[in-house]
Amino acid sequence: MIDWSERYRTLDTPWNLGGPHPDLVRRLQMSEPGPRDGFRDALVAGCGHGHDALALAAAGFVVTAVDIVHDLRDELEERLAALGGRFVITDALALEGEMFDVVFDHTFFCAIDPAMRADWGAMIRRVLRPGGLLASIVYPFSKPMEEGGPPWGMSRDAIESALGTGFEVLADEPVVEKGHQTWPERWLVMRRA
Ligand SMILES: C[S@@+](CC[C@H](N)C(=O)[O-])C[C@H]1O[C@@H](n2cnc3c(N)ncnc32)[C@H](O)[C@@H]1O
Repeated sequence: MIDWSERYRTLDTPWNLGGPHPDLVRRLQMSEPGPRDGFRDALVAGCGHGHDALALAAAGFVVTAVDIVHDLRDELEERLAALGGRFVITDALALEGEMFDVVFDHTFFCAIDPAMRADWGAMIRRVLRPGGLLASIVYPFSKPMEEGGPPWGMSRDAIESALGTGFEVLADEPVVEKGHQTWPERWLVMRRA
């Protein structure tokens, strides 16, 4: 069991890119996905320092960023609020009663115990509106599960199996701007029917 608070306290956070994922930045500049066409409310679960959440909020999304680590509040809460978003400290896997147009996953799915992937899928089904988009950085792509984690190997198959039926793949392609170096990364977008 990972002690996430301890990892932040000891600065043992190799996942931290120090800024938003560069391919998210590139796509937001292209407005893909953009806060248009009825897509407004975005969830970033397991947001960490909140770089991606802040980038999405700056691009016009109304962002809810969620993490279980209390110590992240001081650095994130006000900055996100200034962009119209909010930071919530809670177990993201237990979220319910809120609806989002977009869920962005960047090293949250691969961080949780694989035994909890079904809980992750159930959470997405509870909070993503029909027609809403799940956008994921699929990382570490092609890492064998036997190598352990986190980060645990991540794939489109694993996401599809966690989500269950009723999702259509809109994009599944290598990232153009890499964020992490150790393993390949892909950009996956799925739309809920
Ligand atoms: C690998 S880090 C990724 C952080 C961020 N997405 C990034 O790319 O920098 C995983 C994050 O998920 C958070 N986390 C782990 N389990 C969680 C849970 N059940 N609910 C909410 N956050 C969780 C951790 O505290 C950590 O910030």
